Amino acid sequence: MKALVLSGGMGTRLRPLTYSTPKQLIPVAGKAVLEHVIDNILAAGITEIGMVVGGQGDKIREVIGDGGRFGARITYIPQAQPLGLAHCVKISRDFLGDDDFLMYLGDNVLPEGVADIAGSFAAHRPAAQLVVQKVADPRAFGVAEVDADFTVTALAEKPDVPRSNLALIGVYFFTPAIHTAVDAIRPSARGELEITDAVQWLVANGAPVKASEYLGFWADTGNVDAVLECNRRLLDELPPQQLGTVDAASRVDDSVVLAAGCQVVNSRIEGPAYIGPGSVVEDSHIGRYTAIGADCSVRHTLIEDSIVQDGSALSDLPGLSGSLIGRTASVSATRRHRLIVGDDSRVEVAT
Ligand code: DAU
Repeated sequence: MKALVLSGGMGTRLRPLTYSTPKQLIPVAGKAVLEHVIDNILAAGITEIGMVVGGQGDKIREVIGDGGRFGARITYIPQAQPLGLAHCVKISRDFLGDDDFLMYLGDNVLPEGVADIAGSFAAHRPAAQLVVQKVADPRAFGVAEVDADFTVTALAEKPDVPRSNLALIGVYFFTPAIHTAVDAIRPSARGELEITDAVQWLVANGAPVKASEYLGFWADTGNVDAVLECNRRLLDELPPQQLGTVDAASRVDDSVVLAAGCQVVNSRIEGPAYIGPGSVVEDSHIGRYTAIGADCSVRHTLIEDSIVQDGSALSDLPGLSGSLIGRTASVSATRRHRLIVGDDSRVEVAT
């Protein structure tokens, strides 16, 4: 079985970060979302991965490479325009050949993995097997209706009036039957070839389609709040490891991960938290659920429940919370607010 990871798209809900970084590379608990995705695919026993990439594909290639460091083989498949999830399948036809495949949305995180579901798909080989979870408000998702034994009876993409509370959560298993369905459908009202419509086509044409309920934590990291929640959940699970240096004036909880080469000076770090390689934390208080990337500096600052990406510098900030800071950003305090704010930014200033 192969895997197809979808890592194109626009990432509009994460602007301005996604002007310079594809959303799949945003780090949660010290690792890009896409790296968590690849770990899960390998855990399901699949090493042959097709990676659909869009306009910022070069950045994904730079970070992920040919897959060798994961023990995978990655083939990049450029998508000129984000024309939909089923369009991704269409342009990957040569890579997929006539193999069964796992399709994984590159911005979805399922920390408990999908190895069991992969095993059940391989044993029974329905035309499609969808991973679903009960959600309070399904209107933002693909929605599946199922019968008593979880055979899918109908599907709808982001319906105004959902007929079930089972959302599609970004992982799909397919036999080659999906290619006929993808060729048969037309673009939706939003102009995309929807994978939900392709699977609905299979259902309508009598092909067996199953659903498997995933009961663990799941995140679609498409917006800031979801990214921060995912960061909290993954930090909770991160095995503590302290490789950096801590001076005698500092206090670091056991549940904190200190990557090699980081330095903690005269600071307090509450766990769970992650401090990346080469970063310096000085005269600061790092509160719970904070992940600091590589080569950052944090001085005279209190920060909690936040993500700071590689190469950024924070100084003299008395209280930063729920924040998502991009790469090589600089955030500091002055007596008056002076803001140079890019398009689509979101700024919240303490009063
Ligand atoms: O997160 C689960 C939901 O993902 C499902 O419930 C929906 O049925 C499914 O359509 C999808 O909805 P989203 O609106 O969240 O999809 P998004 O545009 O965020 O794209 C999902 C991933 O696929 C993301 O990593 C970007 C990538 N993508 C997307 C499109 C439209 C591509 O690589 N190419 C594309 O053309």
